[in-house]
Amino acid sequence: MAEATEPLLSLRGLTRRFGGLTAVDNIDLDLAKGGLVSIIGPNGAGKTTLFNLVTGLDRPDAGTVNFEGQDITGLSPERLAARGIARTFQLGRVFGNLSVMDNVLIGAHTRLRAVKPAVPVIGPLLELGLALLRPASVKAEEERLREEVEAILARFGERLLPRIDQPAYSLSYANRRRVEIARALALKPRLLLLDEPTAGMNPSETAEMQALVAELKAGGLTILLIEHKLEMVMRLSDRVIVMDEGQKIAEGPGEEVRGDPKVIEAYLGHGLPGGAEQESAA
Ligand SMILES: Nc1ncnc2c1ncn2[C@@H]1O[C@H](COP(=O)(O)OP(=O)(O)OP(=O)(O)O)[C@@H](O)[C@H]1O
Ligand SMILES: [Mg+2]
Repeated sequence: MAEATEPLLSLRGLTRRFGGLTAVDNIDLDLAKGGLVSIIGPNGAGKTTLFNLVTGLDRPDAGTVNFEGQDITGLSPERLAARGIARTFQLGRVFGNLSVMDNVLIGAHTRLRAVKPAVPVIGPLLELGLALLRPASVKAEEERLREEVEAILARFGERLLPRIDQPAYSLSYANRRRVEIARALALKPRLLLLDEPTAGMNPSETAEMQALVAELKAGGLTILLIEHKLEMVMRLSDRVIVMDEGQKIAEGPGEEVRGDPKVIEAYLGHGLPGGAEQESAA
């Protein structure tokens, strides 16, 4: 399938070294608007590091990141969030002492801060004043945001809405991961990066997450997905990129890369999860 339009996200020669280790080695990647590309590969392949380079948490030693036709290489996470790039983290990051509502509101506030005109000195003071006085316009705005958050939480069925005022620490692991995705959605992203969204989830939770990602994709969201669960990768992806030791070793439709001898070898070389141990000469 030809991707005729200019890609939404485009990486060229992206490289990140840590001392003698090249964690991300000369990676090219194109992601069309509305597309879903998965990145798979054994532990330590460089998948999360690649996400960090795209989302501004880390800077590349070489190469470029292009988004919506603009060079965004090395911009801060805040600037990138303002441009519509949202992500979730492999180990999950929610604020335990904040409620579900407040965790998700953070995403909405990040978006609003980004669009507010910059009034350097008076800005924060004015904002504080408004917060203290709470005139009608501020209350209306708060109410609108709360409704927005409720609509996002409703996407997770009965998982989060009934717990909207509970602190995140009181939630199950799977629900905390859902909250993180809800927060990313509150940013109204144009590109969403999900780093192992089903890690630690049981099969039914995984199926639910897969359905949600499919729904987001059907709604037109462009998604970059890191995922170890291959069934989910096969179902959702337009294209799969396989990384090993920093390099892209295969790319194509899921079924094609799955049978690629290089890919099988990469997984075997690092040990398949739960698979047979390789013979050792010890
Ligand atoms: N900040 C860092 N400093 C030094 N080495 C790092 C750093 N971040 C990652 N690495 C190394 O870079 C390599 C790639 O790590 P990365 O976390 O990107 O892999 P991954 O593909 O996401 O693996 P996993 O599937 O286990 O999450 C690993 O060898 C890792 O130890
Ligand atoms: Mg990782």
